Amino acid sequence: MVISYRGTLIRQILRRCHRAVAASKNSNSLTCFHGVWPPTERRDFEQHMRIVPDFISEAEEKQLHEEIEPYMSRLRYEFDHWDDAIHGFRETERKKWYPKNRELLERVRQVAFNGEIMPYVHILDLAPDGVIKPHVDSTRYCGNTISGISLLSDSVMRLVRTDAEKYLQNSSNASTEDTSYRQQPEALLENNFYADLFLPRRSLYIMSHTARYNFTHEILGNEHSKFLGNPVKKTRRISIICRNEP
Ligand code: OGA
Ligand code: MN
Repeated sequence: MVISYRGTLIRQILRRCHRAVAASKNSNSLTCFHGVWPPTERRDFEQHMRIVPDFISEAEEKQLHEEIEPYMSRLRYEFDHWDDAIHGFRETERKKWYPKNRELLERVRQVAFNGEIMPYVHILDLAPDGVIKPHVDSTRYCGNTISGISLLSDSVMRLVRTDAEKYLQNSSNASTEDTSYRQQPEALLENNFYADLFLPRRSLYIMSHTARYNFTHEILGNEHSKFLGNPVKKTRRISIICRNEP
């Protein structure tokens, strides 16, 4: 009796370990590093930018989409302001969810946030020709972790190292204080290092600490959307984004 209980427990633990290793291997193969990365920066980045492929099933994707669509389809995509960080999108926030979707968001809360999450979930619907330009979510409105589930489409997310000193100088300068939700510090590709991440449909990404503060993030538009040299066609993409308190 004791032996069989121990056997079951060991099998369970081994299964969990195999799953964790498989997940981290997958996550590595979904990241492509460009430029010369200082080793410590790369280690920190790998720890703080994670992708969990197949975080939700096809049925769960459908169920999320079905809850969002009636409201979302009534909004119009915004293409007007080229200065804005996002182009070709509509968005909303939701606090109350159907029980099935609530369960799934509870999983995000546990996996990505150790239980501490903002009650409003942000839903961003990007048109097929929409783009999210390089930006950093304002530290005024968002804490150290941002997570996103991708629905309906694969995409490529690029994270580019910002010039931390320049960025801090600017944001601490009261006269030019930026109250926008998404700040757009300069992040150049030349003489710099950055990473492209393949975000499969139904995956979850978890962006925290250095990845969240020291890198801009963006979703590449179709003309630039490539991973390891292969074009990644982005169709309509909905992301379910959770954040923690600043
Ligand atoms: C944002 C953002 C990323 C995503 O809304 O600020 O970066 O996955 N979204 O849609
Ligand atoms: Mn953002």
